[in-house]
This record gives sequence, structure tokens and C-alpha cells, in this order.
Amino acid sequence: MDIVIRPTQVDAVKLTAMIIADTLRRNPAAVLGLATGRTFQPVYALLVEEFTEGRIDFSGVTTFNLDEYAGIAETDPRSFSAYMREQLFSKVNVSPDRCHLPDGTAADLAESCKAYESAIAAAGGIDLQLLGIGLTGHVGFNEPGSALHSRTRTKALSEITREQYRQYFNNGQEVPARAVTMGIGTILDAQRCLLLATGSEKSAVIAEALEGPITASVPASALQFHENCTVLLDEAAASRLNNTEYYLTTFAHEPEWAEYRERNL
Ligand code: GLP
Repeated sequence: MDIVIRPTQVDAVKLTAMIIADTLRRNPAAVLGLATGRTFQPVYALLVEEFTEGRIDFSGVTTFNLDEYAGIAETDPRSFSAYMREQLFSKVNVSPDRCHLPDGTAADLAESCKAYESAIAAAGGIDLQLLGIGLTGHVGFNEPGSALHSRTRTKALSEITREQYRQYFNNGQEVPARAVTMGIGTILDAQRCLLLATGSEKSAVIAEALEGPITASVPASALQFHENCTVLLDEAAASRLNNTEYYLTTFAHEPEWAEYRERNL
């Protein structure tokens, strides 16, 4: 794992967006694994800006999102489909038939999860998987206890996660109890993973996931198995890590980060 700490949320977001943009410039037919959540909104805003200014092109890109609520249709404004349309898909030239999200309303969810895995494989696998982290240590909606080899499936949401999303489900509507999510095994199959966490509320779970034992109780800790995983943090999210000096040295001196240092990122 490469752990990079940038001073502020703005710096961490900018570096994340530039890594994604550089991936698309190098490989215009990249397969991206996408995440939702508040953390990624400013990242998508910067990608839209890169597109608008003609510096990246999504016409050859294929996307697979991590997760979707079970029982929520893609047309529902609270769905992750709606989030993706609003934050990114409607603002760039990605082809709608190459944008995939798990189908939360499939008549046969198990079959539809299998088909999602097959579609990822048919696209040649995920080149770059974006990840946020939930307060329970989840990636995607792989809540604590998720098998570390799990594949796309339905998963019950924890009360902590449902509480986090209650603000989006007002008018007496309950947050769904379940979601369809890529598994930890699906995520670990990506060529590269990019986890972004910002803000002090993520500091405890980040310390557990990055420096604690690998355990299904903190599903993000499984990323310690991944050979090409970059974790981007702001100082607030990194504030409970022990090995901070080493991580700071990595970004300051390692050759792979030279081009980003030169671009003042
Ligand atoms: C959600 C999503 C994840 C997301 C994470 C963090 O539950 N399933 O994909 O990355 O929680 O969300 P936020 O960025 O809003 O803190």
C-alpha cells in the first residue's frame, strides 16, 4: 500500500482527480470502478472540469459502480444511479451503455449479481477502482463480517450506515435495509485501487484499516492484500496513524510521485 498524506481535503481531492485523469489520458479505454458518497463529489467536479476544458475524454471509458440500494429503482432520485448521473455521467461524454451499476430492483438479485461479475470480466476487469470508506470500515457496502473473498451480492446495511444516509431519505421514507455491492474479492481483483478519505471523522477507521490487523470486522483492511493500492488522505483523516513520517517521506521523495510534486499537487 502506498499511503499519501496531503495537507488539506482540497489537496487530497485534487491529487485523486489528477491520478484518475492521468489514467484516462494514458488509457482512453480504461475501465473505472466508481464510488459514491460525499467524499467523491468534489473529485467528480474536478473531472468534469478536466473534461470541459478538453483535457480528458470519456468516450472510450467503461464504468462499474461499487453498489446500489436494494429495492431502489435507478430512476429514484435517492439511488446511486441518480447520484452518478448528477455528479458525472450527464456532464461528460461517457456512453450511457457503458455505465454500469448493480440493479437494486432485479427480480432475481442473485442472478443479476452474477451477471454483474460477468460484465466486469467481459470488459477485461477494472483498471482503477475508486473507494471511499464508511464509518464501519466498509468499502462499497461490504459491512463488517463480509467475507474477504466475497463477490457481488446483497448485503444487510448496518445501523451506523443507515443513520449516515437518513438525511437523504426524509418524508418518512426508511433507508433501505439492504444493498447490492461488489464483494471484497471483486474489489481486490482491480488492477489498482485508490482509496480516498478526508476529515477527522474518518481518522479512527483509517487507522484501524491501514495499520490494524486484516480482519473481516474492518472490511477495508483487506486492501492490505492488494499489490497496487494507493490511499490518499488529508491530515485530518491521517491524524491517528502511527507511521506518518514514513508516509510523508514516500510522497516527498519516491520517484513515482515526482511528476505530481512537480505539478505542485
Ligand atoms: C457509502 C458507500 C461507499 C462510500 C462510503 C463513504 O456507504 N457505499 O461507496 O465510499 O459510504 O461515504 P462518504 O464519502 O459519504 O463518507
